Amino acid sequence: MLGRVNHIAIAVPDIAAASAIYRDTLGAEVTAPQALPDHGVTVVFVLLPNTKIELLEPLGADSTILGFVTKNPSGGIHHICYEVDDILAARDHLVASGARVLGGGEPKIGSHGLPVLFLHPKDFNGALIELEEKPR
Ligand code: CO
Repeated sequence: MLGRVNHIAIAVPDIAAASAIYRDTLGAEVTAPQALPDHGVTVVFVLLPNTKIELLEPLGADSTILGFVTKNPSGGIHHICYEVDDILAARDHLVASGARVLGGGEPKIGSHGLPVLFLHPKDFNGALIELEEKPR
């Protein structure tokens, strides 16, 4: 069911500072910040040869990553995103397997304009998993 790693997300308190670390210290290509109010985050992608790193900064007072960044003030790995061919088939398989799909199980449109779902970390070894449907 799982395809390639689409991205690994790191939640940070200051996305400009985090972007500068990846661009200047680590010598990677970073995209311009993009505000995603529906997801409560501002996002920057670090473009790597084999995957991407998604830097996330809380956006708005009810951002879902605000608590995470408060608990991890220097930032921390937030989730891993895997690609799937068919997100609804993946969801149905996971639900039938007893896994919890967050947000009522309905895919949302993610930062790449593709449907995404998040899976409960307690069902997956303590790691928050995002599934993103591959473009058709
Ligand atoms: Co993500």
